[in-house]
Amino acid sequence: MSSVVNRIEAGAPRATDLPGLVVTDVTKAFGATVALNEVSLEVGAGRVHALLGSNGSGKSTLVKILAGVHQATGEGQIRVGELAVPASTISPASSASLGLRFVHQQLGLFPQLTIADNFAATAGFGGRSLSPINRHSLNRRTREMLAQFRIDADPEDRVDRLRPAVQTLVAIGRAMSDRDRAKVLVLDEPTEALPEDETSRLLTSIRNLAADGLTFVIVSHRLAEVAEVADEVTVLRDGNVVASGPTSQLSRADLVEHITGNRVAVPRRRQAVRVGAAPAVKVESLSVGPVRDLSFDVAPGEILGIAGLVGSGRSAILEGIFGARPLRGGQVTIGGRSQRFRHPGDAIRAGIGLVPESRTHQGLFLDRSVTENITAARVEKFRIRGSIRTSREQAHGRMRVAEFAIKSSSAQAPIATLSGGNQQKAILARWLDTSPALLLLDEPTRGVDVGARAEIHAVIGSAVEAGMAVIIVSSDLDELCDLSDRVIILRRGHATHMLDSGLTVGKVAALMHEAG
Ligand SMILES: Nc1ncnc2c1ncn2[C@@H]1O[C@H](COP(=O)(O)OP(=O)(O)OP(=O)(O)O)[C@@H](O)[C@H]1O
Ligand SMILES: [Mg+2]
Repeated sequence: MSSVVNRIEAGAPRATDLPGLVVTDVTKAFGATVALNEVSLEVGAGRVHALLGSNGSGKSTLVKILAGVHQATGEGQIRVGELAVPASTISPASSASLGLRFVHQQLGLFPQLTIADNFAATAGFGGRSLSPINRHSLNRRTREMLAQFRIDADPEDRVDRLRPAVQTLVAIGRAMSDRDRAKVLVLDEPTEALPEDETSRLLTSIRNLAADGLTFVIVSHRLAEVAEVADEVTVLRDGNVVASGPTSQLSRADLVEHITGNRVAVPRRRQAVRVGAAPAVKVESLSVGPVRDLSFDVAPGEILGIAGLVGSGRSAILEGIFGARPLRGGQVTIGGRSQRFRHPGDAIRAGIGLVPESRTHQGLFLDRSVTENITAARVEKFRIRGSIRTSREQAHGRMRVAEFAIKSSSAQAPIATLSGGNQQKAILARWLDTSPALLLLDEPTRGVDVGARAEIHAVIGSAVEAGMAVIIVSSDLDELCDLSDRVIILRRGHATHMLDSGLTVGKVAALMHEAG
């Protein structure tokens, strides 16, 4: 074991360090679920502290208590510098007056409003009807924020029309906008939707702002980025602090062990693809979105990876095949028949599934139960003479919840009460449940913890062994290379390479970034 401090003495600031944020004995229960159990942590001013833990371990719950969205159950306290509030009465207003600022996992942007109006909500512009002078100044400040974060968008653009990565950057820019009064910035999986270059830019600006004295708490499942940006880490497991200490003293293996509690990941082993089998899908001269004239095929039992930078057209290919985006040209042959789906419903009937890039915008029915979300793609199975056989549906939901280790108080709980990573597992369960001939995966393990990621890979692996074909888009090159039999490198809508042997992360990254 490494020299992990297994719990920082609560409320005892180190002599060399000004306390930035001190959390003492915070407990939170939702019904019978204890999400946090007497959690304490301390972050020195100007330090970057990473909060780690598996899906459902309590990270976002702690973030929401810090934000005053939830109140704690016991006697806990939140302190920033000299100011403290009881964690049981904290409100959004008292949190803000402590100097705490947030980027939540679900971003908390108003999707139907413009960037400028989202910005107004925190920038002290208050009311809805702004005078022309205020509007002018709001737009100027929004423009400055967009320039500072190199966001390619206009203050008047509506948030729901922006790419997920840009939405994240807007939320971060908004949280950082009142630099004078902000003391602690809490970022809940800020890089989840960000591509590599935007991630490294964000990590650099976090380090710069920390050098200026701003304190950071950052939630992440990406251990490489934690090692890069964080001075210290705290690991939660089932709502308890199981480890806490300087990042330099915790190896990656230590962190994985603390996060998973020694849960063993199932190694993936697959038979080679059946040579000579008729392709599950054949794509000829496909033109969709930025993609032009792309051809490939995928055999049953094969996983095809697509690598490329943001904007290269990766998601467009999946959406085009799925009938969610109109094709400009080309032909898709599935099960021996040439198909051009006008609607995802037609694709689903033809045996195709799509796990979309953004689970909250494209995947989940937030007001429905976990079970209803899992069975959503094939409710007919549970329907008899028009009415749903609820008991059968519920038994099925319980089975899938257990199989996918979805952490939920019950299979009937609203999916909105699940942690982000567990919502992602439910969407995967939904599509694997339809036994598709072809499964399209767009960033399938985004926000999923290291243990569950291996489990999901194993589940995908066994469906593939049984003959399912997969096309996967992932910015996580480890994942892409681990899973794929072949990888297409896509650059500005063109396939520049097809790698089928000696797949390595280094090779794929080099080809993706190659100039030209
Ligand atoms: N509003 C709620 N009602 C009921 N249970 C909840 C609610 N919010 C969270 N929980 C439960 O509390 C536990 C902790 O969830 P939390 O969202 O804090 O996890 P997390 O560590 O952020 O996970 P992830 O990495 O997946 O985002 C989970 O079991 C979750 O289902
Ligand atoms: Mg979370």
